[in-house]
Amino acid sequence: MDLADIGVTGLATMGRNLARNLARHGYAVAVHNRSASRTHALVREFGGEGTFVPSEEAADFVASLKRPRRAIIMVKAGAGTDAVIDQLAALMEPGDMIVDGGNAHFEDTRRREAALRERGIHFVGAGISGGEEGALLGPSIMPGGSAESWEALGPILQDIAAKVDGVPCAVHVGPDGAGHFVKMVHNGIEYSDMQLIAESYDLLRQALGATPADLAEVFRGWNRGELDSYLIEITAEVLDQVDAATGRPFVDVVVDRAEQKGTGRWTVQSALELGVPVTGIAEAVFARALSGHPEQRAAARSLAGPSLSGVGAEELVEDVRQALYASKIVAYAQGFDQMAAASREYGWDLDLGAMATIWRGGCIIRAKFLDRIRAAYDADPNLPTLLVDPTFAAALGVAQESWRRVVTTAVRIGVPTPGFSSALAYYDGLRRDRLPAALVQGLRDYFGAHTYLRVDREGAFHTDWPGDRAERPA
Ligand code: 6PG
Repeated sequence: MDLADIGVTGLATMGRNLARNLARHGYAVAVHNRSASRTHALVREFGGEGTFVPSEEAADFVASLKRPRRAIIMVKAGAGTDAVIDQLAALMEPGDMIVDGGNAHFEDTRRREAALRERGIHFVGAGISGGEEGALLGPSIMPGGSAESWEALGPILQDIAAKVDGVPCAVHVGPDGAGHFVKMVHNGIEYSDMQLIAESYDLLRQALGATPADLAEVFRGWNRGELDSYLIEITAEVLDQVDAATGRPFVDVVVDRAEQKGTGRWTVQSALELGVPVTGIAEAVFARALSGHPEQRAAARSLAGPSLSGVGAEELVEDVRQALYASKIVAYAQGFDQMAAASREYGWDLDLGAMATIWRGGCIIRAKFLDRIRAAYDADPNLPTLLVDPTFAAALGVAQESWRRVVTTAVRIGVPTPGFSSALAYYDGLRRDRLPAALVQGLRDYFGAHTYLRVDREGAFHTDWPGDRAERPA
C-alpha cells in the first residue's frame, strides 16, 4: 500500500473539506473519523478528486502515514481534542507531527505542545480561518509550533492556503500557542467588525426608515471603496435575502440573539490579563450578551426613550460609512496591540506585518484594508499604535467629524451604538494631553495610601490625607 503524505482525522465539514483541498493539490491524504461512515462517505463522494487512504481505526490511520508522520486533527475544540491527541501520540514516534486545526484556546495549545515536546513529538496549534468554503478552496492558516515542524508542514500549508497577489496566506506565526493566539485575535476582530456593521445597519434603518433591501445597496456601494471586505460583501447578501415562507426580509424573521462559541470572549479575557484595551472587541462580546437576555429586554421595553426626529439621509449614509471605517481602524489597532503585547509576554517574536499579510485572503476578516496595515508595519515595525500611521491618521482626521455626528445622532434618537461610541472614546482617550487618571490616582492614595508619581519629580509619593495633608516620599 502507498503511504499517505499527510492525514486528517475528524471529518465533519471543515475536516472533510481540508482533506479534499489537500487531495486536490496532489497530496495522498490519509482520512479517519471516529465513526467510519463519514470516512467512507468522503471516499465515495469525493474519491475522484485525488488520493485518499481511508482507515477505520486510529492505529491504521497512523500506520498509513509516511515518516515523519503529519496528522491534522479537525475536531471540535475542548476535552475531545486531548483524547484524540493522546490516542495519536501513543501510536507515533519522535519526530512525528500532530496539527490541531481547531479553535483551541492558546493556553491549552501551550500545555499540549510542552507535553508532546517531552516525548519528541511536534505539536502544531494551527488557526484555520475561512469556514467551510475556505477549508476547501484556500483558507488563511496560522500555525504555531517548532521551526522544524514548519519546515515539514509549511510547503503543504502554503500550497493549500488562499493566495493574494501570489503570496500564500500561511506563515509560521511563532512557537507553541502563537498560532492559536493570533487566530483568537482574528476572531475577536471578526466580532468587532460584525458589531460595527450591525450598528451601521441598525442606525440607518431606524433613522432613515430604510428597508433591508435599500441598505443592501448601500453596503454594496461601500464595498467598492475603502471598506471593501468579505464581511461587507456578505452583509449585502444577507440584507437582500427574502424569507420564502413569509415574504418578509430574512433579517426580520431571525431571532435577534447573537450566539458565540467563545473565541471573542477569550480575546477579551486575555486582553484583560495583558492590560491591553480592546474595547471594540469587548463591546462586541457584551452586545451579544445583551442580546441574549430576553427577560431583561422584555421588561425594559417600557422604559422611556427619545422620540425619533428628522435626520438628513444623504449626509447620514456618508457619516455612517466614515464612522464604520474609523471604528474599524480602532478595532484593528487594538487587536494588533494585543498581539504585540502577547508577543512580548510569551516571547513569540510575532511579525505583525506578516499577520496582516496572511489575513488578506481566505479568512473571515479578509479586506483590502489589511494591505494598508501591512504597509504601515513595513514602514515602521515599531509603530506605537496603528492610529498614528500617516495613512490611518489622515483617514481618522477625515472621518472624525462624521464619527462624532453619528454617535450624537445615535444618542439623540436612542439607537445603541456601543462599538462606534467606545471606539470614539478610545480615540479621544489616546489623543488627550492629560487624562483624569490623575484624579483616580489621587483617590486611590486618599483611601488606600496607594501612592502616586509626580509630573515634576522622580519617586513615589503619599499625601497624609487624614492628618496634616503634607506630602512625603513613599
Ligand atoms: C473563521 C471563523 C470560525 C467560526 C467562528 C464563529 O475564522 O473561519 O472565525 O472560526 O465561524 O469561530 O465564532 P462564534 O460562534 O463565536 O461567533
